[in-house]
Amino acid sequence: MQIIHTVQALRDALKAQPKIAFVPTMGNLHAGHLHLVQIAQQHATCVVVSIFVNPLQFGANEDLANYPRTLTADCEKLEQAGVDFVFVPTVHELYPDFDGVDLHQSMTVQPPSIASDLCGATRPGHFMGVATVVLKLLNIVQPHVAVFGQKDYQQLFIIQSMVRQFNLSIDIVSGETVRESNGLAMSSRNGYLSFAEKAQAVELVRTLQEVVTAIQAGSHDYPELETKAIQQLTALGWQVDYVSIRSAKTLLPAQINDKDLVVLGAAKLGKTRLIDNIQFCAKSLK
Ligand code: PAF
Repeated sequence: MQIIHTVQALRDALKAQPKIAFVPTMGNLHAGHLHLVQIAQQHATCVVVSIFVNPLQFGANEDLANYPRTLTADCEKLEQAGVDFVFVPTVHELYPDFDGVDLHQSMTVQPPSIASDLCGATRPGHFMGVATVVLKLLNIVQPHVAVFGQKDYQQLFIIQSMVRQFNLSIDIVSGETVRESNGLAMSSRNGYLSFAEKAQAVELVRTLQEVVTAIQAGSHDYPELETKAIQQLTALGWQVDYVSIRSAKTLLPAQINDKDLVVLGAAKLGKTRLIDNIQFCAKSLK
């Protein structure tokens, strides 16, 4: 496995590769990322993983400074997983015009309006930062396939939309959310949770599952189901950003005739903000 820090060196190394699959990450790798690597390996002869904590997708009061950076352990995991290249650029390498003060002087991608909804409502600019860095990375790596996790459903949706709208010739493949044995979605931010919070954190997916169960049992008052779920999590001590039932195809609020649905939630447990979602096909009830 080769660890590469510059765009030019990566381009040179990848020149001879006939089929490349790419997994972008911010490091602090867990089983969820390694699952994406396995998917990548099924699609190509050469797998590139990037590790870059992208400052442009963090808000002023978010966890950029504290975001876990575990490069040595990450590279060991990737080597064991059989990855071919790890791309670890600096901020200056990815944002060449960065003056060291304000990244917002850089050229950026303007994502569609859905980027201001759900997570975008409490994290303004987040998806602009994600779309911008992903576009840069896709341009640098020029993969045939890029793999993203379904846990970040809105991110996946926006990236799929960007690839379609910018006519990029790349297949976006998604990997299912990998969960701990109790159901908690794996996330780099789980490392912020205390032992007690980690046990409690599963309440988020359990609450989303209850919403799914209620819909499958015939409840169609989606705003009421959302309110109930928010109240339930709040009573358990969470600070809820949203619980929302959406069309899985458009990510707009679900209508009664939509069959492909996704229920998404984002909430803070203590200082840690967690997100999760469940995609499902609504049963037709007679
Ligand atoms: O999902 C992530 O880890 C990041 O948002 C991504 C896609 C690597 C862009 O920084």
